[in-house]
Amino acid sequence: MARITAALLAGLLLSPLIHASPTSGKPLLASRQDENSEGLHSLMVAAGKLFFGTATDVRYLLDKAHQAIVNNPSEFGMIVPENSQKWGELEKEKGRVDFTNADAIAAAAAKNGQKFRCHVLTWAAQLPSFVTSSTWTKEALTAQLKAHITTVVTHYRSQCYSWDVVSEALSSSPDSNTLSNSSIFQKVIGPSYIPLSFYWASLADPDAKLYYNDFNLEISPLKAQGVVDIVHLVRNFISPTGEKGKARIDGTGLQSHLFVGQVPSLTSLISSLETFTNLTSLEVSFSELDISHDSVPANDTQMEQQAQDYMTVVSACLAVEKCVGITVWGFSDKYSWIQDAFPGKGEGCLYDEKMKKKAAWYGVREVLKRAGVVMAERNSTGSPEERIRNAARNGRLMEEVNGTALMLAAEKENETKNGGSNSFRGGLGWRAWPVVTGWGIWVVLSL
Ligand code: XIL
Repeated sequence: MARITAALLAGLLLSPLIHASPTSGKPLLASRQDENSEGLHSLMVAAGKLFFGTATDVRYLLDKAHQAIVNNPSEFGMIVPENSQKWGELEKEKGRVDFTNADAIAAAAAKNGQKFRCHVLTWAAQLPSFVTSSTWTKEALTAQLKAHITTVVTHYRSQCYSWDVVSEALSSSPDSNTLSNSSIFQKVIGPSYIPLSFYWASLADPDAKLYYNDFNLEISPLKAQGVVDIVHLVRNFISPTGEKGKARIDGTGLQSHLFVGQVPSLTSLISSLETFTNLTSLEVSFSELDISHDSVPANDTQMEQQAQDYMTVVSACLAVEKCVGITVWGFSDKYSWIQDAFPGKGEGCLYDEKMKKKAAWYGVREVLKRAGVVMAERNSTGSPEERIRNAARNGRLMEEVNGTALMLAAEKENETKNGGSNSFRGGLGWRAWPVVTGWGIWVVLSL
């Protein structure tokens, strides 16, 4: 897949047309009313990525309005159970593993044609009490962890796009790259619990992508370095049969529980992601995205800022080749975990409590649509004129063509071919000029 450059996407993100409608002067995000447009997942795929997903769970099944959105594969192409696959949910009593709830989510995702992400195997939180309150020897806990991973991964074999194998093994401080000492696995087994977990998961499902998942990686280079160390630990692991290379790690999930106004700049996010993926050669995804307000209810200005922040994160994923997708940790403010975990904070989702799309949703759609147009144009053949006309024809531009002007990012090669100054007329009656800006190459269209 061709890489969309940072400059190009910065251009997309910073386009004044995202903020102001050329005809009305009203904020564009607030004026959007199109409820039947293509969903975020479809647009994400058109922009060259694998998925836009959400966490959900069985406890929301009776909420029809919520479920209608969950079950729409155009909106969410990846589903992850928010809690049902956690050890403490699956095996409340030692030896009695109950997959009913998690299976229901897996079955619904399969029925809807959505990818299923499995979450989570080795995590120090939400454990059953028989794990947290027993006194363990290293051997006994190692055997128990192996049994857990083998049983669960085998049960879901070939159903999971990916498994979050180990989560939050690093110290929660952004100023540290050390392993967390509060984890029972670290305390009893030591650091080998990490490569062992990847090894057992690799044996039980050779096809699922195996992920490490953690928070603050997007804002802390030190913590990201901790993941680089974990990757080396896994790759250098010698299996009990004396072989190297038997523990596999394929990706890292950047949880990204972020706060409005505190999201790193686009360039800084891109640079963190690229540094990380270059060092590890792993794929990455934004795995639990939400961008909450410090205090609620949020006003319109704060909601527009939230939209900008979401657009920054989505743009960063689009700009980094190894970023394969984005999953939000719930899509409605009605059920977000944030208000429970961080009292007083919240409203961090793309939909409000009434399942209505927020400015953030429209902002994300805007970024994805523009990136999709770039991809369509990039992948089509023929002259630059034909390629841009194709992009317009494929429908993604049509609603924009009503305005007096629109901008479409184009590749540098077009600018070179056109000499950067000639305009041409398209079959739809519009005119296009390639324009070089500080943010990349643009094609400006007007009727
Ligand atoms: C959260 C769930 O959303 C809540 O419902 C639950 O009470 C606590 O866990 N990082 C993770 C997720 O990896 O599993 C957590 O999910 C949020 C933080």
